[in-house]
Amino acid sequence: MYPQFPPGFRFGMSTSAYQIEGAADAGGKGPSIWDTFTAQGGTVRNGQDGRVAIDHYHRYEEDVALIAAAGVQDYRFSFSWPRVLAGDLDFYDRLVDSLLAAGVRPVPTLYHWDLPQEFEDAGGWMNRDTAHRLADYASTLVLRLGDRVRDWITMNEMNVHTLYGYALGDHAPARGLGLGALPAGHHQLLAHGLAVQVLRTHGARSVGIANQHFPVTPATDSPEDVASATLFSDLTNWTFSDPILLGDYPSELIRAGVGVPDGQLDRDLELIKARLDFYGVNYYEPTMIEAPRAGKDYSGVLEVDIPEGMPFSPVPVKSDERTDFGWAIVPSGLTEILVTLKERYPTLPPVIITENGASFHDAAPGPDGRVHDERRIAYLDAHLSAVVSAISAGVRVDGYYAWSALDNFEWAAGYDERFGLIYVDFSDLSRTPKDSYYWYRDLIAAQARS
Ligand code: NOJ
Repeated sequence: MYPQFPPGFRFGMSTSAYQIEGAADAGGKGPSIWDTFTAQGGTVRNGQDGRVAIDHYHRYEEDVALIAAAGVQDYRFSFSWPRVLAGDLDFYDRLVDSLLAAGVRPVPTLYHWDLPQEFEDAGGWMNRDTAHRLADYASTLVLRLGDRVRDWITMNEMNVHTLYGYALGDHAPARGLGLGALPAGHHQLLAHGLAVQVLRTHGARSVGIANQHFPVTPATDSPEDVASATLFSDLTNWTFSDPILLGDYPSELIRAGVGVPDGQLDRDLELIKARLDFYGVNYYEPTMIEAPRAGKDYSGVLEVDIPEGMPFSPVPVKSDERTDFGWAIVPSGLTEILVTLKERYPTLPPVIITENGASFHDAAPGPDGRVHDERRIAYLDAHLSAVVSAISAGVRVDGYYAWSALDNFEWAAGYDERFGLIYVDFSDLSRTPKDSYYWYRDLIAAQARS
């Protein structure tokens, strides 16, 4: 029996531009911060980069056909900002047209971490102007594609981009600013608010955002651990959602940390809390936090290490099962975070799970031509059931998009981490649907549609 969803529930698959497109210089495209970061040795596992990625730019027709054949209603992808800046919008025209012709609704994300290097050179997200550049870019896109694209996502995982890229140094642009990175978060939120305005002005029917969320549990119920966990969750969950859904930051510390004078901050927050048609949630795993214990070594708990001196330390979540990426498999965390969001935000719009999935180091197709990824099927089954539980608990969830349609470039982890429902052989770039792809297709077909 497959998990059963309410009629009208939308199934989809997600990808992002830098992770799949390749064609790094096509059409005069300049570098993004990920081109720069990957070109500096020692930043990505095995020295890999996204110059070719899975060459989706040239193989999109095959990919769209595979995505459509799974029976999904929606496909979430992102635009490459440097590609659009170079005036190469033809690719997105063709992609959107082929999705529509195949009966799949395009759900594009404006920004999925690949900032044009020239804007980084001008300060990147630490510079308020970048928010206005994003609004200009949003208007270029909606003017060109708004006659065919009805659903838009502004930003992707601003928390991870701020934490890994600006606070730490594990992702581009590797700024390592610690808590000094908070303005980079604020400017992305401002960009979101400005983009919502621009998209609506030009007739977008449905606008949302993709925010990563996860339950944060204190390691013990000591006041120190509870305070650390609260601060960590404020910084990584609520800093990026309270302004949108409540119109303010979760604490004075963070309000002060974003570095905007009071009057202006209130005007910014007014913009940021623009009404949304849906709220995208990306979920992977919960986090456990403790107050740092003197002399204890915390390295290697997350893929990134929180620098010493921070008032919180992640510790391993107790879980019997992990993905091959080492992430704890805790489906109940998805139900929990959805219920928490509903309780925290009385005005929460309908939720779409804009990403959820798992990396397993799948073996290449065997003699039977199949990729047997039973653990991914179990993962998807359990997480889809967790969504059903949240719906039963009264949370309105309108869709679920699996991360990812295809194996791709997993940022600092390179190509070893395979999240796809479709296997990609990185030597010849051939595509093979995995067993999980067929399972997902059959689950979609098994839904009552009336
Ligand atoms: C979230 C990001 O949005 C996506 O780009 C990434 O590949 C997945 N998580 C898995 O880490």
